[in-house]
Amino acid sequence: MRAVDIIIKKRDHQELSKEEIDFFIQGMTSGDIPDYQSSAWAMAVLLNGMTDRETSDLTLAMAYSGEVLDLSPVAPLVVDKHSTGGVGDKVSLVVAPLVSACGLPVGKMSGRGLGFTGGTLDKLESIPGYRSNLSPDEFLAQLSSIGIVLTGQSANLAPADGILYALRDVTGTVPSTPLIAASVMSKKIAGGAHAFVLDVKTGWGAFMEKLDDARNLAELMVRIGEMVGRKVVAVISDMNQPLGQAVGNALELKEAIAILNNEGPEDLREHCLVIASHMLVLGKKAHTTSEARNILEATIENGAAIEKFKQLVRAQDGDVRYVEDVGLLPRAKYIETITAPVAGIVQEINAKRIGEEAVALGAGRAKKGDPVDHAVGFEIHTQVGDQVELGDKLFTIHANDYERLQRAKRNLLDIHIIQQAPRNPYSLFYGVIE
Ligand code: URA
Repeated sequence: MRAVDIIIKKRDHQELSKEEIDFFIQGMTSGDIPDYQSSAWAMAVLLNGMTDRETSDLTLAMAYSGEVLDLSPVAPLVVDKHSTGGVGDKVSLVVAPLVSACGLPVGKMSGRGLGFTGGTLDKLESIPGYRSNLSPDEFLAQLSSIGIVLTGQSANLAPADGILYALRDVTGTVPSTPLIAASVMSKKIAGGAHAFVLDVKTGWGAFMEKLDDARNLAELMVRIGEMVGRKVVAVISDMNQPLGQAVGNALELKEAIAILNNEGPEDLREHCLVIASHMLVLGKKAHTTSEARNILEATIENGAAIEKFKQLVRAQDGDVRYVEDVGLLPRAKYIETITAPVAGIVQEINAKRIGEEAVALGAGRAKKGDPVDHAVGFEIHTQVGDQVELGDKLFTIHANDYERLQRAKRNLLDIHIIQQAPRNPYSLFYGVIE
C-alpha cells in the first residue's frame, strides 16, 4: 500500500477501506508517512468528507494508535464529558467534582487552551503545585482511591490525534466534521470511560459556527459511539457569547469554585447542572435528568461538591488554601471596570473576539508551549438581551501590562454592541441527541 494512492482515492471522492485507514494512521504515528502527505490527506477529507463507516474506522485507528486504558478493574462504570471548546467554558472544573461527589467516578484527561479557546489544565494550574502530568498508573490509583482525576492527556494516549491535530491547526483543516468527530471520540475511547456526555458548542466562539453543522457533528459522534459500543449523549450548547462572566485562567477557576460553593452566575450553574444530569443518568445514579438534578443540587448545597474538589487538589499536590481563600489566587496589576457609554440593549458580545482579546492579554498562547499568565482576563458583567443604563458596569479588565490594558479597553468596548433595539437573549442549549 502507498500513502499517495490513499490520498488520491480520497481526492477522487472514493470511500477508503478499513485497511487503508489503518495503514495511513499507523504510518502517520510511526513517522513513516511524512507531514506533507498527512496534511494533503486531511485536506482531501475536509473537502470530500467521509462516510460513517470510514469515520468510525478512523476513530478506532486513532484510539488504538497508542495505549487504551481499561478502567473496568477500577470502576465498573466511568462516565466522562468533553466539550468541543469555547470561551469561558469552565464546566469541567465544576462537573467533575460534582458528579464524583454523587458517587460516580470521573477520570478526566483535559487539554490546554487552543487558539482563542481556554483549557482546563491552564485554569487548574492557577493553583500553585497542582500537578497535571499524572502517569497512567497514578491516574488509575487516584481514580480508585478518591474517584476523581483531572490531569493532562498522557503522551501515549491516541498519539495519532496529537500529530494530526497539530497539522490541522496549521493547514486550515480543523473544521471538518469527520476529523473533529474522530479526534474527540478517539481520545475518549483511549481514556477508557464507558459512556460520555459531549458538549458540542455552536456560535461565534465555536468551531462549528452554524447550528446545523453542530447538530451534524453531534449526531455523527452519537452514531460512532453506538458503533464502537459506548453510550454517548451529545448536548448542543450556545457559544455566541462567553459562558458565565469570567474569561481567563484564575478568574474562571474562581468562578467554578463559586458554583461549587452554591454561588456564581446562573447561566453557568444551569449549564453545569444539565451536563452533570446527563452524566448521572448515563452512570445509572439516577433514572431521569430531573431526579439527577435534585441529587446534584443537594450535593452542592450540603458542601460535598466543594469538598470533593479540595480532595482532588490535595491529591494532585495543589495548595488547597487557594481553594479555601480564592483571594490568594494570582491577581493582576491593573484591574479596571468599564461602564456603558450609552444606554440600550446588549445586541452582541462575540465570544471569539473576547477569546482573542484574552489571548492578547496573555491568558492564552500564540503558539504551543508558550507560558500563560494565570492572573489576566475579563469579567463580562452583562449578557446579550440585557438592558443597560449609561454608567452601568459593562466589563472588568485584569491586565499585567498597561499597553495591553488600553488595547483591551478599546477592543472590548467595540465588541459590546449596544443599541436601542429589541434583542432576545441566546438560549443556553439548542438540543440533546441521545
Ligand atoms: N476538539 C478536539 O478534541 N478535536 C478537534 O478536532 C476539535 C475540537
